[in-house]
Amino acid sequence: MPDQSFLVCGPRVAVRRISVQDRAEIAVLDRESAALHHPWVPARDTTEEAFRAYVAKFDQPAHEGFVVCLRESGAIVGGVNINDIVRGGIQSGALGYVAYASTTGHGYMTEGVRLVIRYAFTELGLHRLEANIQPGNAPSARLVERLGFRLEGCSPRFQYVDGAWRDHERWALTAEMTEHAAGSGPR
Ligand SMILES: CC(C)(COP(=O)(O)OP(=O)(O)OC[C@H]1O[C@@H](n2cnc3c(N)ncnc32)[C@H](O)[C@@H]1OP(=O)(O)O)[C@@H](O)C(=O)NCCC(=O)NCCS
Repeated sequence: MPDQSFLVCGPRVAVRRISVQDRAEIAVLDRESAALHHPWVPARDTTEEAFRAYVAKFDQPAHEGFVVCLRESGAIVGGVNINDIVRGGIQSGALGYVAYASTTGHGYMTEGVRLVIRYAFTELGLHRLEANIQPGNAPSARLVERLGFRLEGCSPRFQYVDGAWRDHERWALTAEMTEHAAGSGPR
């Protein structure tokens, strides 16, 4: 049983760090959600060794890995990562997220990603989060738009996904654009 101590809580969901103990639950969810995730995010290897390596990545200061859980049951309904965190005068990270097939379409991810954003701009001291979204991934674009992200432009051949370099739309949110602005400078 993973540690259920939540970092941030909303009305329906709460966010905690991902743990190696989440492997069995996430392996089932990933399998059930293959059609939802393809071709938008790379398939994840949930064999024991690969999952341990995946979680270990979040021990590094440049990566943060979270799961979004239902407050009542603790069941995982989504995952949110902040990758490629750059400090100094940039204070930025790249947001990644997945919902799962059985619980998509209830607003859980909007609530969960909002909690992660608040955590990033306050506890982590970040100033900017970006989300890189393939054209055609309408649910993902709707999610970040709901959360106040601004479409900055297109990054041609930005990321290797599903066997090819794919163009992505670059959406971003800075701390000033949210009600949770940290109001602090670089640290
Ligand atoms: C992108 C993704 C995470 C969005 O998931 P989601 O389930 O749509 O997000 P939410 O949980 O916030 O649900 C929002 C939807 O629930 C609806 N909803 C239903 N009941 C709701 C409620 N009580 N409260 C809020 N929203 C509710 C909303 O209207 C919204 O639907 P809409 O987008 O059609 O308007 C999901 O589609 C996914 O995992 N895609 C594959 C992976 C991916 O693309 N990742 C991002 C790569 S850039």
